[in-house]
Amino acid sequence: MTMTLRFRARSCLLAIGLAGAAVIGPAMAEEEPPMTPDGVPTYEVKEGLVDRGTYNGYRRFHSVCHTCHGFDASGSSFAPPLVDSLKRLSYDEFKEVVINGRQTQGATGDKVMPTFGLDPNVVQNLDDIYRYLKARADGALPGGRPKRYGS
Ligand code: HEC
Repeated sequence: MTMTLRFRARSCLLAIGLAGAAVIGPAMAEEEPPMTPDGVPTYEVKEGLVDRGTYNGYRRFHSVCHTCHGFDASGSSFAPPLVDSLKRLSYDEFKEVVINGRQTQGATGDKVMPTFGLDPNVVQNLDDIYRYLKARADGALPGGRPKRYGS
């Protein structure tokens, strides 16, 4: 419901912009990051374009997490593919692991997920990283750099 309204507002702004009838500041065109009715961050993919938060999540993931979890969250020999993990983990479970870290002892040695709770680059972008990973896990987003709609 709100989503539809937002999109209508956007095409409206676009129409006005095209007509050159008004100058609209960037603040007015700002979108709310998508949330589920339960208040869990989620994503929007419209004709292959993603919301700004999901796009930010893509960028943050590939600056901090991909070294272990692989490009496109597809996993590596160091760490599990989060495209699979996010099919199973809830938002709260996801947050818990990222903030507190985790360590599992296996036959081939320790597997360590670092603690990111004190890293503002991660903490402040955790919802967006979740958005991106959830979109990947749901199969809503192919690998590679997504394009975003909006500014
Ligand atoms: C230094 C390597 C490394 C980095 C960097 C890293 N992780 Fe991990 N991560 C791991 C390992 C190893 C595990 C598996 C830990 C285990 O088996 O207990 C893991 C587990 C996880 C899990 C739980 C997966 C599951 O299936 O239960 C999540 C969620 C996760 N990482 C998210 C992230 C996010 C988000 C980032 C970036 C902010 C990140 N990780 C960065 C190594 C890393």
